Amino acid sequence: MKAASLQRLQKLVWLLSDGQFHSGESLAECLGVSRTAVWKLINKLQAWQIEIYAVRGKGYKIPRGLVLIDSHYLTDQIITKAKLFSQIDVLPTVDSTASYLTRSWQQQPGTGRICVSEHQTAGRGRKGRRWVSPFGANLYFSLGLSLPLGLSALGGLSLAVGIGLTKFLNLHCDDKISLKWPNDILVNQQKLAGILVEASGDSNDQSFLNIGIGINWDMQISDGSKIDQSWINLKSLLRTSVDRNEILALILLELDKTLSRYIEQGFESFRHDWPSQSAFFGQTVIIHTHNGQISGIEAGIDKSGALKLNTAEGEKIFFSGEVSLRPVETGG
Ligand code: BTN
Repeated sequence: MKAASLQRLQKLVWLLSDGQFHSGESLAECLGVSRTAVWKLINKLQAWQIEIYAVRGKGYKIPRGLVLIDSHYLTDQIITKAKLFSQIDVLPTVDSTASYLTRSWQQQPGTGRICVSEHQTAGRGRKGRRWVSPFGANLYFSLGLSLPLGLSALGGLSLAVGIGLTKFLNLHCDDKISLKWPNDILVNQQKLAGILVEASGDSNDQSFLNIGIGINWDMQISDGSKIDQSWINLKSLLRTSVDRNEILALILLELDKTLSRYIEQGFESFRHDWPSQSAFFGQTVIIHTHNGQISGIEAGIDKSGALKLNTAEGEKIFFSGEVSLRPVETGG
């Protein structure tokens, strides 16, 4: 899409974000285009999964309004407070924040950077799944970092990120938020957030980390119905009402701290938090592998982040790429 047309769309969303009706005429005047052009732009916004009412004689409105990401506020917070990140790109739409960072890194390798987007057309989840990403409803971001550590030294990194994020969310919510190994953040078995870590580089000296996180914030049931598991919004769980921009800045700064700690102290410093943050520690779970399934009691994680399971045949270790974990339904 051309830059001018993208800017117009951004301005149009901003005008409608107050949740009030705006006539086609007033929008046309603000944007410097015809009323027909406004109608075409509205259609484009609907492709970003924004619900818009069009009422004859009244104009257009986004029914509940939107709290848009404030790039000035976020940039200010990150630049002044983060240790590892010195650049943040806030986009209205992108294929995937993870893909964006990979491209940006290939063009211009360098310091730590963050990409946040209001919408993703091809958001990626684990195991090749799609990450449903309606405009302005949730939080979608990726953190890119180059580390002077080979891939072999990055064991447990994605678990460290999950533990850091879960601990932080628990500080701000009454309901128990927990981590389903390796990377699902759940509340009462409903998905709250997902983490996708992609690492590239060589095994000895240097690696590029791309840490993508999606957090359900205020998603409508109509959008969430495209997700094949039950889910929950963070906004409904927070103890105090926090603005979408504030929570995003706090989460990004917390991740900056978590990653700094991982770089300085390694995964070992996170391991002791696993029992308190895990969704199923000490409980019977079933692990599904390519070769079938096995049940046992979740017995923690080893120093590389692999899951330990006490089974009838003794302790078994599982690595994240190969398995998925399900709790055993207790019934009743
Ligand atoms: C999961 O499957 O649980 C992981 C989901 C990760 C989704 C986030 S949204 C921001 C970033 N960009 C992507 O395309 N994926 C991650």
